[in-house]
Amino acid sequence: MSAYLSYKHPEIKWDWEKINIESMYFPRDFAWGTATSAHQVEGGNNNNNWYQWEHSFDENGKSRIHNNEKSGASVDHWNNYPNDIRLMKDLGTNHYRFSIEWSRVEPSRGTIDQTTLEHYRALCTELIKNDITPVATLHHFSHPIWFEEMGAFEKKENIQYFISFSDTVFKFLNDIVPIWCTINEPAVFVSQGYFNGVFPPGKKDPKLAAIVLGNLLDAHVELYRHLKSTHDGKNSKIGIVKNIFQFEPYQRWNIMDWAVSSMLDSVFNSCIINYFRTGNFDFHLPLQAKLSFQNTSAISSMDFIGLNYYSHYLVQAKPDTREPFIFRKRSNEIQTDMDYSIYPEGFYRALHTIKILKVPIYVTENGIADKDDSRRSLFINRYLYAMYKAFREGVDIKGYFYWTLMDNFEWAEGYDKKFGLYSVDLESQTRTLREGSIALKNIINRPGVYERDFLVKIGDPSPDITLDLVSGEQIQLNKLRGKVVVLQFTASWCSVCRIEMPHLEKDVWQRFKNKDLMLIGIDRDEPIEVVKKFKKEMKVTYPIALDPGAEHFSKFAPKEAGVTRNVVIDKNGKIVFLTRLFDEQEHRQMINVIEKLLDEKV
Ligand code: BGC
Repeated sequence: MSAYLSYKHPEIKWDWEKINIESMYFPRDFAWGTATSAHQVEGGNNNNNWYQWEHSFDENGKSRIHNNEKSGASVDHWNNYPNDIRLMKDLGTNHYRFSIEWSRVEPSRGTIDQTTLEHYRALCTELIKNDITPVATLHHFSHPIWFEEMGAFEKKENIQYFISFSDTVFKFLNDIVPIWCTINEPAVFVSQGYFNGVFPPGKKDPKLAAIVLGNLLDAHVELYRHLKSTHDGKNSKIGIVKNIFQFEPYQRWNIMDWAVSSMLDSVFNSCIINYFRTGNFDFHLPLQAKLSFQNTSAISSMDFIGLNYYSHYLVQAKPDTREPFIFRKRSNEIQTDMDYSIYPEGFYRALHTIKILKVPIYVTENGIADKDDSRRSLFINRYLYAMYKAFREGVDIKGYFYWTLMDNFEWAEGYDKKFGLYSVDLESQTRTLREGSIALKNIINRPGVYERDFLVKIGDPSPDITLDLVSGEQIQLNKLRGKVVVLQFTASWCSVCRIEMPHLEKDVWQRFKNKDLMLIGIDRDEPIEVVKKFKKEMKVTYPIALDPGAEHFSKFAPKEAGVTRNVVIDKNGKIVFLTRLFDEQEHRQMINVIEKLLDEKV
């Protein structure tokens, strides 16, 4: 049985020695951002559930927070935001995810503090002035004391208060905030607050945990439906943020490790994903909690999904009903300062898991706690590579937000965990860019990172064009259905094209021309004599078409973008692979794709 499970869920491990992160290309409109949350950075939040929690003690009189710390003035983002926006700009980011502190907006039930709303408006205006798009989260773990005292999300009837607060904020800011996250990580809020008891309200009650989780998900659905129908909400992007932490067997041969890890994975991950996919909520922790209900409006209740990804948990089952499992570490995985490892392959898998929701994905958080800054750059390079790989495979990723801009109050862990791209001296409030963070800056700002620019993407139907070949023949693309088509965009002045063409001739045309394949070179805006001469010089025998004014080219990429790119189209006219410049690894991948397509029946 465990052998079958191991086979069905293979462990992915990449050979990092062979991976070239220099070949990552992102579309020009890709969102690059950093993320923070109100209670962690603003300072001076003394009217919410976390303030209460920081000032309370456990049954042994111990503080709830590591080192007896309090969020206090934190990094005073409330006052320092103009400077912090400059830091974002220095990084080259173009988006910023932050959260709105409900306890400031509505300090007591039904009373709205206008100055607070104005503050958030000023923050967004400053962002926009700096070409940074604001992305607002409405609930990021903190809410007013009055709401906590009413039982918060333990009671279904309390959802209306969250909707009403959100409506007020949305109405006030929606004209300048285009992207909204309703709730941050319901499963983390619930597991930490109602299962492990380390976040407020500090309960350890699996049955209640299931109820709160169900209510949070329903609250999202209700809020989504409400906002879409009001204050011009149809023009906003509204989604929820899901943290994926895979729970996996510590020993892959051990069936008990499989059983316990898949049970945990189900309540933390799949139960939520299934809810949004099917409208069915099925929470089942054997002997502890079972809750099922249906909410069909959950289906299609988001314009995007926010994915937060950090790592995975390795679960070892124990024959002890009081402690049925423990988390273990593997010696071959580099650890972070939190209780988890660097696991980029898991990020790649999570992106493939979440795509099942069939909406665009924003990576709303990803980052590392690394006090001595020894692992940050490795983390950034590897996780971004994992994201890029998924992106290349067609996962619809729209953006990436690094957690976090600067060190801050890491909830129950206090100030010890250093997630910031910038370190902060809490005394002087000075921010300093960490060495390791330069890796992110380099990727975002690398010349040519957007070079890949395509207007089409994998999965799109290919635009239909009619090509005039230098031979005088005409070919209409749509008439080639039933064949695999490779379009090669080229030009005689392009040195990379000249490197690529002999490979195309040999590895594609000569190998497959007698099968169902058509390879056509399309020469960018050159007269027929030049193209004929070019074809002869290159000794290629595949057909070449003319492209006056780059009209054909501009259906696939922005007119001003560079040539040397191939578009592979399957037998049904769907784009399945795109290349840019000449990279041997990518060329080989393309050949593999073509081989597979030629084997397939239409
Ligand atoms: C939360 C953040 C937190 C981060 C690092 C996420 O689960 O959304 O608030 O600081 O993880 O632990």
